[in-house]
Amino acid sequence: MPKITNLLAKLSFLFIATTVLFAGCVTGQLGKNNSGEFKNGMVVTAHPEASEVGIAILKKGGNAIDAAVAVQFALAVVYPNAGNIGGGGFMVYRSAKGEINALDFREKAAASASRDMYLDAAGNPIVDKSLYGHLAAGVPGSVDGMVQAHQKYGKVSWQQVLQPAIDLAENGFKITKRQASELNGLHRKFMEFNPNGTAFVNLESTWKENDILMQKELANTLKLIRDKGRAGFYSGAVADSIVKEMQRGNGLITKNDLDNYHATWRKPVTGNYRGYQIITMPPTSSGGIALVQLLQSVAPYPLKQWGHNADSTVQLIVEAERRVYADRATHLGDPDFYQVPRNELLDVSYNKKRMANFNWSAATPSSAVLAGEIKGAEHEETTHFSIVDRDGNAVSITTTLNGSYGALVAVKGAGFLLNNEMDDFSVKPGAPNMYGLVGGEANAIAPNKRMLSSMTPTIVEKDGKLFMVVGTPGGSTIITSVFQTIINVVDFNMSMQQAVAAKKFHHQWLPDEVYVEKDAIDSLSIKKLQSKGYKILTRGPIGRVDAILRTSYGTYQGGADPRGDDKAIGY
Ligand code: GLY
Repeated sequence: MPKITNLLAKLSFLFIATTVLFAGCVTGQLGKNNSGEFKNGMVVTAHPEASEVGIAILKKGGNAIDAAVAVQFALAVVYPNAGNIGGGGFMVYRSAKGEINALDFREKAAASASRDMYLDAAGNPIVDKSLYGHLAAGVPGSVDGMVQAHQKYGKVSWQQVLQPAIDLAENGFKITKRQASELNGLHRKFMEFNPNGTAFVNLESTWKENDILMQKELANTLKLIRDKGRAGFYSGAVADSIVKEMQRGNGLITKNDLDNYHATWRKPVTGNYRGYQIITMPPTSSGGIALVQLLQSVAPYPLKQWGHNADSTVQLIVEAERRVYADRATHLGDPDFYQVPRNELLDVSYNKKRMANFNWSAATPSSAVLAGEIKGAEHEETTHFSIVDRDGNAVSITTTLNGSYGALVAVKGAGFLLNNEMDDFSVKPGAPNMYGLVGGEANAIAPNKRMLSSMTPTIVEKDGKLFMVVGTPGGSTIITSVFQTIINVVDFNMSMQQAVAAKKFHHQWLPDEVYVEKDAIDSLSIKKLQSKGYKILTRGPIGRVDAILRTSYGTYQGGADPRGDDKAIGY
């Protein structure tokens, strides 16, 4: 069992951090970040500059994959708190003809990583060791992922999709108010981990909105990737810089680790919800399986009749989340290392059985819920983008450094940030990570293994046609945010923008608490839930969903989350 005090300290840090990070107001209307419905294509990302890059590629004849690769690299420049080339992510793809695929470009543990590498002599986790600095980094996967995605499905040249990011890094871009405040807040930490300086530190003054952030070293790295593809990152000068950086900070990543890294194509998880086909990310994500489990758990109940965030709706969903997250902790891990009971967890009758002991008159204590018997505190600053092109090809990518600005180490000479993804392993099976998530043996550290993720890039189909592209950052809240966005549209008839902006709540088995955004649930419903034993805590914004909906008359609606600087652009 987790140490509750340790856990609460982590979670309260998380709530303060997210409250500071997402100060945007939340409304259900189309706002300044979303201009309406379009028929040719749409790009929704966490940063206006990245959305512009994606839409320009689509307008020049690129397809959704071309635009996605260009956006991934652009986000590494304009949204360095989560956009990356030093991290990893997942892609779910659906072609206009209905072909589906999933790409796992999640980071891997280095070959010399070991199960107890973050424990002290007494066997307790040394929290900062898996969170900050060189030892927190997994072998980056984003560049190989983008190379593979482009080779398989891209239409315009590799050079063309790289160039916008190079220009943004070389010439600079205007930072938003939110970014200025984040960079100022991290000034001391950046100095601590990068004594030789980094582009993110302003030595002359404090950062202000509209200041130009230039990243010359990153521009040179992106040029090498443009000219040499995979070899521009995993070997040569950039690989040398990464290894040198590891030597400086006692990190583990070697030339061999870089050479051996390859993204992996996987079969998407699929499931059905009220006649809609869900296409989502398989393990190494826990998110796709958990999302389908949640949808199956609530499908027998009349959510629409009860109403959005009504007490019965909230109670049912919390009980489903309790059971699904208990399963997540036990049964999910890297499928190349651990036999995930995928078919059993995705079985409708299994999830129905899991809900059978649910009692309307009182909350089920989490201590009474164990993972189902199967025969046979993540950081929240990930980022998601959704793209549909003129032909109807759709891409859903969630990508991350894990924490905001990852391990806070910029690779000297190469200008990009290292991830701190090693914290997503169960550092000590049974102890919570930075999101308060408890993991088991399935997610223990092993050489070359991928750490479990909650990222849930998803595409929804209706009657054989594209219906929705959706995903979000938010650590452990990713799964429940994607789930709520889907039911907001399917059960509660919201538009895409309303569904994205609607207030959310979250439960994850442990701790036995329900987190709600301010005013997400009316006070009478909260009292009813409390009287049944639910512990309800208000927290900062949950998720930052960027999504696209295809309407019944064939146009695209964007949903750009008003909790951030996100922007939907269509044409
Ligand atoms: N680092 C967050 C996640 O992968 O879920």
